[in-house]
Amino acid sequence: MKILFIGDIVGSIGRDALQSYLPRLKSKYQPDAIIVNGENAAAGRGITKKIYDDLLFMGVDVITMGNHTWDQKEIFDFIDDADYLIRPANFSEDAPGKGAVTITKNGKQLTVMNLHGRVFLPPHDCPFKKVDEMVEEAQKISPYIFVDFHAEATSEKIAFGWHLDGRASAVVGTHTHVQTADNRILPGGTAYITDVGMTGPYDGVLGMGKENVLYKFKTNLPARFEVPKTGRAVLSGYFVELNQAGKAIHQERIYINDDQPFAQ
Ligand SMILES: [Fe+2]
Ligand SMILES: [Fe+2]
Repeated sequence: MKILFIGDIVGSIGRDALQSYLPRLKSKYQPDAIIVNGENAAAGRGITKKIYDDLLFMGVDVITMGNHTWDQKEIFDFIDDADYLIRPANFSEDAPGKGAVTITKNGKQLTVMNLHGRVFLPPHDCPFKKVDEMVEEAQKISPYIFVDFHAEATSEKIAFGWHLDGRASAVVGTHTHVQTADNRILPGGTAYITDVGMTGPYDGVLGMGKENVLYKFKTNLPARFEVPKTGRAVLSGYFVELNQAGKAIHQERIYINDDQPFAQ
């Protein structure tokens, strides 16, 4: 089973970058499943029904979310009907939506899970305990288990990778929007990267326009951060190949921008 994951899609630049590179990524990696994090897809804040539909139309199989899940009010109208949209599983039990989905691709079942860290972030339920329950259930279905851990602290993310080593096929971090170079296969066969990075404006600050961010840093005055609508793009992704036992046998980072063009 081959899985392509694309990190946080930010705004229209991110969506356009995905659309323009996805055909080439598909032909290079031949993925059975494509997963993207869509928590910033709507101008940096959440996701709309139209964007959800557009991503599926492009060939995305599952969309994961994060701390921006509820930013667009319309999410409450469609999340319970969006079969392939998952939000962190350790949100309140009263939250709408779901934290995992099992899809069937090329005759193989893959469970995708989304969890949220708790360090420097709101106090959600324990992701470590929650994922234990989820993995136990998912293993009854298939050994292919992919986890997007949306978290701020590198320590919590690394610990989460070790927590799942040998039980999940891959644990990828999202949220910090900068790709880390620590991707590896852990001894138990779990592919791991602390952060995949984001897909969106290349010449900003974590996807936001740099002018307002600089103004805020220099003046300590309030500034509204906005995602640029024009400019250069970066695409950040991660590819993993699993054997029949659900263990990672190959993994690589994907990082495409004007300074590091796509290599066939
Ligand atoms: Fe994000
Ligand atoms: Fe986030």
